[in-house]
Amino acid sequence: MASKLIISGGTPLSGQISASGAKNAVLPILCAGILGEGPLTVSNVPHLQDVTTCLELLGSMGVTLEVDEKLNVSIDPRTLSSQVAHYDLVSKMRASIVVLGPLVAKYGYAKVSLPGGCAIGSRPVDQHIKGLEALGARIEIEDGYIVAKADKLKGAHIYMDMVTVTGTENILMAAVLAEGESILENAAREPEVVDLADCLIAMGAKIEGAGTNTITVQGVPALKAASHRVVADRIETCTYLCAAAITGGKVTVHKTRPDTFEAVLSKLEEAGVKVTVEGESVTADMEGRALKAVDIYTAPYPAFPTDMQAQFLAMNIVAKGVGRVTENIFENRFMHVDELKRFGAKISITGNTAISEGLPVLKGAEVMATDLRASASLIIAALAAQGETTVSRIYHIDRGYECIEEKLRQLGATVRREAS
Ligand code: UD1
Repeated sequence: MASKLIISGGTPLSGQISASGAKNAVLPILCAGILGEGPLTVSNVPHLQDVTTCLELLGSMGVTLEVDEKLNVSIDPRTLSSQVAHYDLVSKMRASIVVLGPLVAKYGYAKVSLPGGCAIGSRPVDQHIKGLEALGARIEIEDGYIVAKADKLKGAHIYMDMVTVTGTENILMAAVLAEGESILENAAREPEVVDLADCLIAMGAKIEGAGTNTITVQGVPALKAASHRVVADRIETCTYLCAAAITGGKVTVHKTRPDTFEAVLSKLEEAGVKVTVEGESVTADMEGRALKAVDIYTAPYPAFPTDMQAQFLAMNIVAKGVGRVTENIFENRFMHVDELKRFGAKISITGNTAISEGLPVLKGAEVMATDLRASASLIIAALAAQGETTVSRIYHIDRGYECIEEKLRQLGATVRREAS
């Protein structure tokens, strides 16, 4: 059932929450469960729609899934009976493409629907295909499906044409079972790639250089049963820090990994936010100051993440001065702009840059979520706006933010969910 969030804005957020496990880490990690000869037990799994979709996908292949009382998820691939990822599930979640590498590496066959997911540009998968072909897979596109076949994958030296996160993950998961050495150049350095590599290493893979742009893998014949705890969600953490900043509040996020979002913390400081890091906790405090507009330029990690661009644009529209947000990763990732304008925001788009002129106040509005991070920006704007805002199509946010109303309420926000 479609739901909407109703938010009464204008209250400074204040309090403490804990970060959830990272959506972008848990999805490839659950799929890595296919690679083992025994169960992979994953902890700190966030309760998200995308996780449900991923488990449905693994279940549809015959994988045995168990969830214990602590919500640890165990994936036992020994019952896998189908190597097909059907359109209905892949179209719900683009990250489903990361079953391709593990399936072809372990079973020599995979049939995976071409992906859907957030409508933020065309998002091709040519680099995934190119990397798997370099490892010896034979790949055809048949009726909207990627069909990959291989006898035994062989290590290769692969040069990625561009930095791709799930592309790196797919090739890494294939290379761990390939014969001999693979070197992946221009690899993504995102913390979620490192977390996946740590999980694969726990399963017995031999990987060096994860977190740098050259990853070296010595293939092993088989991977074993293992356990892994998912890294904290840096995008979720930073979204709450933005919510603190835009409302002039003070929020601490615990159980997070501040070393994985330093570029965002630095931008928050530039925007006038007092940021304090203590071990696994981070606090954003406006200390009565006004927000300053900042210029953002998205790029692969460790630069400023595209997944935080919309939230910073929401801050810029009430900050002092003119801010420029330049999106370099995805085309068509400004769908939130027209919705933010409903709050009264002054934004114009030139090429891939959104230029905003800050206003002293925003007015509550009826807005619609268009994709995952866009919906986060609307919620942030709503928290700062005067009066009530209704955000519809909230299923986008449920794909990536665990218990968002509960966490916002814990910070003093007035928010409720209603069926539309
Ligand atoms: C991942 C994240 C997403 C984040 C994005 C960029 C997951 C599940 N999702 O998405 O939240 O916004 O990284 O940090 O981890 N490209 C190609 N060919 C390819 C692959 C990618 O041209 O084969 C292009 C894309 O169109 C895009 C850029 O490369 O312009 C980066 O995309 P990529 O890193 O692959 O994004 P995802 O892995 O899909």
